[in-house]
Amino acid sequence: MKNLVVLSGAGMSAESGISTFRDAGGLWDKYPVEKVATPEGYSRDPQLVINFYNERRKQLTRVEPNRGHELMAEWEKEFNVTVITQNVDNLHERAGSSCVIHLHGELTKVCSSREPQNPQYIKELEPQEYEVKMGDCAADGSQLRPFIVWFGEAVPQIETAIRYVEQADIFVIIGTSMNVYPAAGLLNYVPRSAQVYLIDPNKVQIQTSRSIHVIQKGASEGMEELSRLLSGLR
Ligand code: OAD
Repeated sequence: MKNLVVLSGAGMSAESGISTFRDAGGLWDKYPVEKVATPEGYSRDPQLVINFYNERRKQLTRVEPNRGHELMAEWEKEFNVTVITQNVDNLHERAGSSCVIHLHGELTKVCSSREPQNPQYIKELEPQEYEVKMGDCAADGSQLRPFIVWFGEAVPQIETAIRYVEQADIFVIIGTSMNVYPAAGLLNYVPRSAQVYLIDPNKVQIQTSRSIHVIQKGASEGMEELSRLLSGLR
């Protein structure tokens, strides 16, 4: 089976009702990124940050995977699929994708404020625990913090992601403005021989000399079209 590697971003979940970040009216318009998605913002006002992610977590209980997520899960019948996502929601997993790498963390998990990446203190929350409070502690006694990779922090999963991308026969970019590194740099690791597709309803600026097959559509419609194209490549 061919290796199909996906890089997904916020646009993947837009049709499920989750806001993107940089589109007009996106999350970073309403919540300044430096306040809610940086370690400095968290040190200054942990309550604000904890509330922000509590809201995002509650939203997870109200949304469902869309047709795009479902089609991606169905590709596993015909390809070795790896989904590398910048999204912190769990919609790829809920649609049935079995190999999902979260570059920017996961809303359903919490960790230690002192050592965010120490696996000993990373914990999966049950839905009834989605509302984290000030004073709720990790096993090391520090405040429970959202398991999110904030701006200015290292992206520990990038090495694993690169290893998959280097083996890709088909690489699909979907719903990301390709503004955030190191995620956007993954394209540089795609073998020259691989085919690259991009699904986005808007024009995405990418610095590359390689040819990319662009499907200028939303996630669900774009995935339907790409599934038809890929049916010839199995
Ligand atoms: P952006 O908000 O930067 O980009 C979203 C992309 O989705 C844009 O290119 C839109 O055109 C596209 N889009 C909008 N509606 C769509 C639809 N229905 N179907 C498909 N695409 C659609 O989001 P990301 O590129 O994911 O990090 O942002 C990357 C990272 O920056 C995020 O993971 C987050 C953010 O700050 C952290 O929070 C650490």
